[in-house]
Amino acid sequence: MTLAPIRPELRGKSPYGAPQLDVPVRLNTNESPYPPGPELVADITASVTKAVLDLNRYPDRDAVELRTALAAYLSESTGVTRTFEQVWAANGSNEVLQQLMQAYAGPGRTVLGFEPTYSMHRTIAESTGSRYISGPRRPDFTLDPDAAVAVIREEQPDVVFLCTPNNPTGLSLDPETVLAVHDAFGGLLVLDEAYIEFSHEESLLSLLENRPRLVVSRTMSKAFGFAGARVGYLTADSRVIDALQLVRLPYHLSTVTQAIAGAALRHRKGLLQHVEDTKKERDRLIAEMRFLELTVVESDANFVLFQVPDAPGVWRRLLDAGVLIRDVGVAGHLRVTTGTPAENDQFLRALRELGGSSTARNDRAGLPSLEA
Ligand SMILES: Cc1ncc(COP(=O)(O)O)c(C=O)c1O
Repeated sequence: MTLAPIRPELRGKSPYGAPQLDVPVRLNTNESPYPPGPELVADITASVTKAVLDLNRYPDRDAVELRTALAAYLSESTGVTRTFEQVWAANGSNEVLQQLMQAYAGPGRTVLGFEPTYSMHRTIAESTGSRYISGPRRPDFTLDPDAAVAVIREEQPDVVFLCTPNNPTGLSLDPETVLAVHDAFGGLLVLDEAYIEFSHEESLLSLLENRPRLVVSRTMSKAFGFAGARVGYLTADSRVIDALQLVRLPYHLSTVTQAIAGAALRHRKGLLQHVEDTKKERDRLIAEMRFLELTVVESDANFVLFQVPDAPGVWRRLLDAGVLIRDVGVAGHLRVTTGTPAENDQFLRALRELGGSSTARNDRAGLPSLEA
């Protein structure tokens, strides 16, 4: 029996996906380590109970209530007023990005990113038939605005992805670099701010004014601890959102999803308190790892990228110690997501013990072998 021929460009590819393993400490997918608290759980339950009474009907196709609540959150957290007409929501920011590719990229069009960055930018671009190319970064993973502008001028892409803070490095972009990139071409600039709530830097939402070619994408998966609910969104000129209406599937956001996202937004104050806890823990992780003489990339996100000589080997040995982190495919580096204080302690303990050292804080015997 022969299989139907798959699209040639998909042949030989592997699906995206971090391992989902049942281990005591899971620090590999940049989720929040904090499950919803009792008040939010009660609101979600009540919201679902109400929503199910209408499940014989299709959801609000335009998700106006949810988009209005997201616009209110953006306006209040950044001081930049947004209305629901300037906000669009879908099942995770991955779906938002896919809709952007469907509307602005696709066959015969070029998408440019700067790797290492969120690998789904390439995957979604290619799966929609677009050509994806990567521009350069400096060896320390920062973006050189002149080099970025040069490659954009040469390639004239239809869509450019920037990510701030960038996954997997955690590094932020300054507004000048974003503007230089924006002004270097005539297509759509997608600024992925999935981790912005964890940043020392401000959101770049203020750049949206009078720039209808700029889109800022966001997610509830990280700061809102809502990865399982699948809610992502973007804000842009309302005409970009009109364009997305042409490619979105009708009723793409279920009634239940819209209801529970609304509940989470009502509880944002409490949820965002966890962001503060995570930021402190992230900074502690960086300090402790540097104390262990590891080279660590500065991070504005809820994860940390650090250097090791043998990334697959160290990843395996940490897993054997019950700690799952991420080998993101950047040679000589691993990425660890910030967990609860107890989880971070377990990770740090496992790191120290890798080289056979004791757990004493000032005993670095284990680390020279890591750095070897
Ligand atoms: C930079 C970046 N953008 C977007 C996403 C997608 O998030 P979601 O689809 O859960 O909203 C992720 C997830 O890890 C990410 O790291």
